[in-house]
Amino acid sequence: MLDDDLNYDDRHIAFLEALWGEGFLSPGGPEEVARILAGLDLTGKTIVDVGSGAGGITIALAGQYQAGKVIGLDVEEPVCAHARRRVADAGLTERVEIRQVTPGPFPLPDASVDIVFSKDSIVHIPDKHALAQDAFRVLRSGGWFAASDWLISHDGDPSPEMAAYIAQEDLGFGMASPSRYRDALAAAGFVDIQLTNRNPWYRDVAKEELARLVGPERQKFEATLGAEDLQGMINTWEAMLVVLDSGEHCPHHFRARKPH
Ligand SMILES: C[S@@+](CC[C@H](N)C(=O)[O-])C[C@H]1O[C@@H](n2cnc3c(N)ncnc32)[C@H](O)[C@@H]1O
Repeated sequence: MLDDDLNYDDRHIAFLEALWGEGFLSPGGPEEVARILAGLDLTGKTIVDVGSGAGGITIALAGQYQAGKVIGLDVEEPVCAHARRRVADAGLTERVEIRQVTPGPFPLPDASVDIVFSKDSIVHIPDKHALAQDAFRVLRSGGWFAASDWLISHDGDPSPEMAAYIAQEDLGFGMASPSRYRDALAAAGFVDIQLTNRNPWYRDVAKEELARLVGPERQKFEATLGAEDLQGMINTWEAMLVVLDSGEHCPHHFRARKPH
């Protein structure tokens, strides 16, 4: 964390965009978004993007994926300001709305959206059961919840290595197991629940990311964060690689459908 109150202040946003691409505060770029959405037709649909961040994906949902209306929800002011600028630059203000919200139920009516999308944001929301119930509430019948997120492979206490990583990353108590996600989705009423472990993919990608942080691009990253905070990030990546290699840190895609 770089600021007393914010996980994603302007410097942090600049750093993550330098690493992951303009408008992206999570790894994988447009290709990873395409994998989360594979087989879903968004044309003309109403989508809510939970944890819309700097807005790169939110814009792609309306632009590349031709959604009719996209509502990006996020809790932090700097990312919302960033995303709103990006939406205006893309000429998409008619179809993309960025709303700064407080944590808790979505400020959306029942059965008002076709797809609940989220990329690597639900990790910040500790109560997965409440989140799944609220996603179910706002979806229309037949609608999909399609997301990726950062998970821990098991329930119970994290290993010392995982605890060290979680503390370093400042992820609090938000990480949950695949079985907790499956249970939360089923308890909410979702069907066709699929979870896909992305650990094998991210394990390799994270190694490349660390090589970039310590390699020839180091100066560019230092310019966004300063030497001390960049070293903190490098320490975080080193701690993360240990638990990616052990499989305990296991990003997942998940998908579930609200029945008709
Ligand atoms: C890792 S970033 C991902 C942003 C974006 N989805 C992306 O992939 O580029 C996580 C985002 O979740 C937001 N967030 C944290 N708690 C949240 C909550 N309770 N509701 C909605 N968004 C939240 C953060 O402010 C941050 O922008």
